[in-house]
Amino acid sequence: MMKFIKPSLTVIFMTIVSSLFASNLAGIIPVPVSMTPGKGYFRITAKSSLLVSTDDKAVKDIALLLNNHLKEFYHFSNLSVESGQIAKKGSIILKLDKECGIKPEGYKLSITKESIEICSADPNGLFYGVQTLFQMMPPEKKALSKIKIKSVEIEDYPRFSWRGLHLDVCRHFMPKEFIFKYLDYMAIHKLNTFHFHLTDDQGWRIEIKKYPLLTEIGSVRSETLVGRYSKENAVYDGTPHSGFYTQEEIKEIIKYAAERYITVVPEIEMPGHALAALSAYPELGCTGGPYKSATKWGVFEDVMCAGKESTFQFLEGVLEEVIALFPSTYIHVGGDECPKVRWHDCPLCQQRMKDESLADEHQLQSYFVQRMERFINGKGRKIIGWDEILEGGLAPNAAVMSWRGEEGGISAAGQQHYVVMTPGSHCYLDHYQGDKETEPLAIGGFTPLEKIYGYEPVPAALSAENARFVMGAQGNVWTEYMASPAHVEYMVYPRAAALSEVLWSSKESRDYSSFMKRMKTMVKRYKSIGLNYCPNEFSKSKKKHD
Ligand code: ACM
Ligand code: ZN
Repeated sequence: MMKFIKPSLTVIFMTIVSSLFASNLAGIIPVPVSMTPGKGYFRITAKSSLLVSTDDKAVKDIALLLNNHLKEFYHFSNLSVESGQIAKKGSIILKLDKECGIKPEGYKLSITKESIEICSADPNGLFYGVQTLFQMMPPEKKALSKIKIKSVEIEDYPRFSWRGLHLDVCRHFMPKEFIFKYLDYMAIHKLNTFHFHLTDDQGWRIEIKKYPLLTEIGSVRSETLVGRYSKENAVYDGTPHSGFYTQEEIKEIIKYAAERYITVVPEIEMPGHALAALSAYPELGCTGGPYKSATKWGVFEDVMCAGKESTFQFLEGVLEEVIALFPSTYIHVGGDECPKVRWHDCPLCQQRMKDESLADEHQLQSYFVQRMERFINGKGRKIIGWDEILEGGLAPNAAVMSWRGEEGGISAAGQQHYVVMTPGSHCYLDHYQGDKETEPLAIGGFTPLEKIYGYEPVPAALSAENARFVMGAQGNVWTEYMASPAHVEYMVYPRAAALSEVLWSSKESRDYSSFMKRMKTMVKRYKSIGLNYCPNEFSKSKKKHD
C-alpha cells in the first residue's frame, strides 16, 4: 500500500527557499519569515517615483535613505518623493499603516510589475523592509540606468526583540567614525541593540563632567602588553594608549544609531573592572591606591570599595549623566569578575556587611548592585548585568546577560527575570574562527561560523512559560587582541551575519547551506562597502559550500 507522506513545514519552506535561488531573492540575510515569488520584475528607473503615505519625518527619512542608496551604489539621480495615499504605477511606496502591523518591527514587502510597496505599522518596519529591498538589488557598486527586482510577496518580522552586538572600546579605543560604520553594518543585518562597553581596567572612555579626571587620567594607559602575557618575559610596547568620547560625540553616536533603529545600551562597569576609574579617584578603592590603568589583560583585585558611601555617591553622579545622555530602557552595570579579596580585608567593607547583616562578600556584591538598581529604577530605567549579579541574590528588577554558559540565563529566566543569552561558547566573537596557526592572534576559544549559526538562544531546559523571558542574544566583541577597526570587522563578520539569522529568522528556516549560498552575495556587498570580513569560509578550497 502506498503511504501518503505529509511534507513537514521545514520541507515546504526549504522548497520555496530553493526555488528562490535562481533570482535576486537569493542574497537576503537574515532570511525573511515568508516569501512567495510572483511573476515578472519591477524595474526601478529614473522615471520611478517614491511615494510616502504620510509626511511623518521618520518615513521621509527612509525615502531619503532609499534615494541615497540608489545614488551611492548605482549613480542614480534622486527619484522624486511625493506624499499621498494613492498607489501609482511605477512607484516605490512606503506606507505606514496599522493594518500592516503583523508583529513588532515587522513589515510587508510586495513587489509586482507595477510597483513596490513596503508597509508597516511603524517606521522601524519600513526601515527593515527597505534593508531587505537593498539586498534584492545588485551587490556591486556600478552605474545602472535600471534595476530589475523580482516580483515577490514578503512578510517578515523578528523572532527576538534583543538582537545585540557589543563592542569593547576600553581595551582598544575605536574612533567615532568607526562606531558609525559599526552601526551601519548592524543595520544591514537588522541588529537593533548596540551594547557599548565604555569603562574597564584599561581605560575610561566616556566624558563625565562632574568627574573630569575620569577622562583626564583614566582614559590613558602608559603602555600595552605585546602578544600574550607571560609572567617571565612580558613585553610592553612603551606607547601610551588613550581616547574617549566627549558627551557631544556620545550624542552624535546615539542619534546616528536611532536613525538606524538601533538602541545604544551603555555599560558602566561596577564594582570590578574599575582600575581606570580608581587611577583617577583612588579614594574609591579599599586601600586608597595609588592605582594605574591596567597595561595588560585579565582580572584585577583592586575594585570599588563597597563600604564607603562616597563610592555610591560617585556612581550616582556618573549614572545621572549617563542616563541623561542615553535614552535606552536598560543601563548595563557590569558586575562581572569582581574578586572579593580587597573587600575581605577592608574594615569598611566588613563593617557594611555587619550593618546590613550580609553573610559573605557575594551578598555584599548583591547589596551593591541592588543599591544601584534602586537608583536607576528611581530614574525610570532598568538595570542589566553580567550573570555574576545572580550571586548573593538577584536585584528585584534586574535583567541578566548570561555569558558563562547558559546556566545564568536559565536561572534568571526561571526566576522570571529577563535574559539576554551570550554564552562564551557560541557568542564570543573574540574567539578564533579558523585555524589558530594561520589566524591573527586571538584570546582563545574556537567559534567557527557554523557553530554560531547553530546557536539556539532559548535553552532547552526552560519551560515555555519561562522561555518568554529570553529577550534574545548578543555577540560580544572584546578587543584585547583587536587594535584596529579593520581587525574588529574581521572578527565580527561574517559571524554577526550568522547571528542575525539566529535572532531574526524563524527557527524552522535555519539552514546552514542555504545561509552560505546567500552569504556569497552578502560577501560581494561587504566588498562594495569596504567591510573587512574574514574570508575563511569563502576561499576556493571550501568546495563543500560551492
Ligand atoms: C565578560 O566576558 N567578562 C562578561
Ligand atoms: Zn572596602
